[in-house]
Amino acid sequence: MNVNNRHYRTIWLKADDPEIVQIIDQRDLPYQFTIEDLNHVSDVAIAIKDMHVRGAGLIGATAGYGMYLAALQSAKDHFDQDLNKFADQLVATRPTAVNLSWAVKRQLKAMENGTTPAEKIAIARHTATDIADEDADFCRRIGEHGFNIIKAISDRKQGAPVNILTHCNAGWLAFVDYGSATAPIYEAFNKGIKVHVWVDETRPRNQGARLTAWELNQQGVPHTVIPDNVGGHLMQHGMVDMCIVGTDRTTYTGDVANKIGTYLKALAANDNAVPFYVALPSSTFDWEIEDGVAEIPIEQRDDEEVRYIEGFHEGRVKKVLLTPEDSPAANYAFDVTPRRLITGLITERGVCRANKEAVLELYPEQRK
Ligand code: MRU
Repeated sequence: MNVNNRHYRTIWLKADDPEIVQIIDQRDLPYQFTIEDLNHVSDVAIAIKDMHVRGAGLIGATAGYGMYLAALQSAKDHFDQDLNKFADQLVATRPTAVNLSWAVKRQLKAMENGTTPAEKIAIARHTATDIADEDADFCRRIGEHGFNIIKAISDRKQGAPVNILTHCNAGWLAFVDYGSATAPIYEAFNKGIKVHVWVDETRPRNQGARLTAWELNQQGVPHTVIPDNVGGHLMQHGMVDMCIVGTDRTTYTGDVANKIGTYLKALAANDNAVPFYVALPSSTFDWEIEDGVAEIPIEQRDDEEVRYIEGFHEGRVKKVLLTPEDSPAANYAFDVTPRRLITGLITERGVCRANKEAVLELYPEQRK
């Protein structure tokens, strides 16, 4: 997508030194656009854990490139041992987004086809690029499939703006390009359909207010940032035509783990007959887990993210205390929306109902 009219992806290999991975450091957005070099696996682990990069697709792509750096760093005489140690280090950084372990496993499996360290390094570089390219391509296709849903609502409204509510950031910053939840919105906007996006601010880290709003601004898409509690009111008053959110892990039975607060929006949508869609590439499906509420691991982050809030003041990002000094806080980063509240899943292969039969019909190769 474009930043100040120049095309960027969220991750790439440095042009004049392909042993360095470059990312957009999302901690500085929307105030500053910073590119960071990742030289070692430990830099990659920190970038994922401390959320220089975030969002399921991008976490997966970063882990893919991380495994390439891991291969470069592994000692020639105990290559596989080192590689597995680095793989464990990466997988431990964040527990909920399944794309992370998916990308690491894909790299390990691909490298089994090499015999020498040099061959394995070449395979890892190739696979990292494939993972990133595939992520971008799948998001582009999600945009095409989701477009039809927005177009149908626009037709029904005789061209009046389609109001879409989204939560957190499932935009291109959460992937390699296009985004999942935002891809249909960009596709509709680029094809001349009038859209307007309600952007949940998404406490505690405010990925909606900071990242989704910035992205939409860069692409010129009309939007309004709202506090997290506003969505229910808007839905009661007919001001939301549909919700589209992303996901960090979706069971093959259709339960969706996404940023904390998604479940409450889905409940409000259900109560007001507002269609609630979840957009995801297949790398975000968990093909093992059946019951999302019981089985998906929910990350708990530092309570500082709740007790403090970050903003821009006098030329730099500042953190200020929000709560009484001694009040404890809880920071559950994700929740699970049960399949019964979801209208449909928008995937790279098309739109399906959120249930096992429909998902496996789209992905028959995953039938056990
Ligand atoms: O904690 P984050 O910022 O990595 O969480 C990811 C998200 O932004 C959302 O849950 C998003 O909707 C998922 S789409 C990749």
